[in-house]
Formats: sequence, structure tokens, C-alpha cells
Amino acid sequence: MTKMMNAAVYERYGPPEVVQITQVSRPTIKPDQVLIKVHATSVTMGDARLRAWNIPSPLFSFIARFMIGIFKPRNQILGTSAVGTIEELGAEVKEFSIGDRVLGSTEMKMGAHAEYVVAQADGSVAHLPEQITTDQAAGLLFGGSAALYFLRDLGKLQRGQRVLIVGASGALGSIGVQYAKHIGAHVTAVCSGPNHEFVRSLGADETIDYTKEDFTKRTLDENQRFDAVYETVGKSSYNQCKHLMTERGAFLPAVMRLPEVLQLVWTPLFSKRSVKSGVAMTNPEKLTTLIELAESGAVTPAIDSVYPFEDIAQAHRHVDKGHKRGNVIVRISDD
Ligand SMILES: NC(=O)c1ccc[n+]([C@@H]2O[C@H](COP(=O)([O-])OP(=O)(O)OC[C@H]3O[C@@H](n4cnc5c(N)ncnc54)[C@H](OP(=O)(O)O)[C@@H]3O)[C@@H](O)[C@H]2O)c1
Repeated sequence: MTKMMNAAVYERYGPPEVVQITQVSRPTIKPDQVLIKVHATSVTMGDARLRAWNIPSPLFSFIARFMIGIFKPRNQILGTSAVGTIEELGAEVKEFSIGDRVLGSTEMKMGAHAEYVVAQADGSVAHLPEQITTDQAAGLLFGGSAALYFLRDLGKLQRGQRVLIVGASGALGSIGVQYAKHIGAHVTAVCSGPNHEFVRSLGADETIDYTKEDFTKRTLDENQRFDAVYETVGKSSYNQCKHLMTERGAFLPAVMRLPEVLQLVWTPLFSKRSVKSGVAMTNPEKLTTLIELAESGAVTPAIDSVYPFEDIAQAHRHVDKGHKRGNVIVRISDD
């Protein structure tokens, strides 16, 4: 007999109300997979964008629609991070036992907004140390993978360098600030005034209130310029920021539109400065690194709010506003 589970299903693109808790078949595993009983997950800006079909660039929107589903979403359960316990093991899986506490990443397959989700045993799921709480773990991967991708891999941020983080209080920014400080960089954080104390508590050295000042109009001395600008909001462009950057500075936009795509190619031909962007994915190395960073206390995912599973549409509504302080967590079952 088919086992059933509750899942947050969206059968069409639209407002938060399209997400409904529905009974669906529990997924089955292949020999190299595990089934995770999900305790907590996060509703990210990525989930909210897919649900609402709010893709920043018309070009990407057109291409992505073929992949995600032209008339309706092909994969109707969102969610890319699952914290829980191993419920079932594939025949080839040796690294885990039933009941192990784990963090799993489902990436493009999604499906974590459900009572059970499948993950590849080799690399997409890892043991979760006790020091990391369930809610923190659920908020680790979205912003954390982006921080490693943009600041470490693309920006090659080094100790002593200066970074400007635009959107410093959000999911990407709040872990970006902590990661940059962990490396030993000097961090200037851009967010609204009420969030300044929060980003300072994460380690930011300086703050700018975008509601009071257009930071792109600043004139900076050479020693104040930024080696990297991590733009997580999509409100400022390379052209607006380049005079704030060092001669070899990198502009790192997490929200990519057509101009940024052209600048990726164009900029290095005419300038020592660069624009570097792409899509941050959680690979096995990032999963392990992020767990180590969180276990050591170098980064602690910020929790904006925690919703019960039945209120997941409400969680989407909150994420849609674009002003969360870190991560929005949804609890699905007890630890
Ligand atoms: N390329 C990739 O691989 C990748 C990966 C993950 C996410 N993303 C994208 O990254 C973006 C950020 O995601 P998130 O989860 O961090 O969002 P979020 O949690 O909603 O954070 C939004 C941040 O932007 C700030 N903000 C809002 N309006 C602003 C404005 N006009 N000027 C400057 N700052 C402003 C907010 O500060 P206040 O609340 O203080 O206003 C907050 O710090 C999303 O669009 C997401 O799709 C891209």
C-alpha cells in the first residue's frame, strides 16, 4: 500500500495562498539514497520567487519557465533544505543509520517542504552536530552556499580586504557578514537603520542606512575603497558602484539581470575590475564546510521567525516582503 504524507503543494504560480498542505504519496528511495523525516526547513527568497514566478530577468524567466514548468510547476513541492532524521536507507548506503540527525540539500529537485524527502547519500546529506540547533541548520544552506560561492570562490576575499555587503540583514547578507568577518575582512553593511544593531552584532564594522543615504553617491579615498561589493538585493549596479571599488575590485551581484550578464563578459576586456556572478549551488564540499563553520561558531544562521507547517503560506507572505532578518524557518515535525 502506498504510504502517504503531508506536503506543501503549489499547483500553480501565484500568491502565497497557492501553497496548500495536501496529502501526497511519500517518496520512495533508490539504493544510493536516504529518506529524511523532516523536522524543519526554510522558506527562502528562492522558494518565494519560484512560487510567484518573480524571476528578475525576462531572459532568465523565459528560459527557466521551460525547465520549471511552462503552464504550471512541474515539481510542486518547494524547499531545498531539510533538517531531520534518517527514516529509511537505500541498500547501498553505508554512511548513515536509521535515526541519525542530518542536514540534507535537495537543490533543484526541491521537495523539502514536506514530511519526508529523499536525498542522495553521497554528498547531499551530512550528519548534523549537536551544537547546531534544528532551526539554525534549516537556515544554513541558502545564504551559506551563496556566501562561499560569491565571497570565497568568485570574490576570493582575503584577510584585511574591505567588502561592502548590500542587503546585509537578509538571509544572504547576514551569513555573508559573518563569513567575511571570519576570514578577517573589514565589512561595511548596507540595510535599513532598525537592522544596524543586528548586523553589528554579526560583526559588521560599519553600517549604511539605505533609506537615509544613497551610498553609491559617496566619494571614497583610495584606502576606503572596496575589494568586493556583494550586492544581494539587486538595487545597485556595477556602474553605480565601480568608483567605490579598488582598481581590481570585484562586483558580486546575487541578483543577475541582463546588464550583469553582459558585464560578466564585457568588464574584464576594458577594466581590471570585474563583475562575477552565477548560481550558488550546495555541493558536498559546501555542505561539509558550512557545517564545520556553524559547528565552530564562525557562522550562526540568523533566525527571523519560525512558523508551524500549517502556516507555511504565512511564511511565504513574510518572505515576499523582502525585509526578513536572516531566515524564515518552518517546523514540520518534532525533533
Ligand atoms: N545568485 C544566486 O545564486 C542566489 C542565491 C540565493 C539567493 N539569491 C537572491 O538573493 C536575493 C536576496 O535573498 P535574501 O534571502 O538574502 O533576501 P532577504 O532575506 O529578503 O534580504 C533582503 C535584504 O535586502 C535589504 N533591502 C531591502 N530593500 C533594500 C533596498 N532598497 N536597498 C538596499 N537594501 C535593501 C533588506 O534590508 P532591510 O530589511 O533592512 O530593508 C535585507 O537586508 C534574492 O533575490 C535571491 O533570489 C541569489
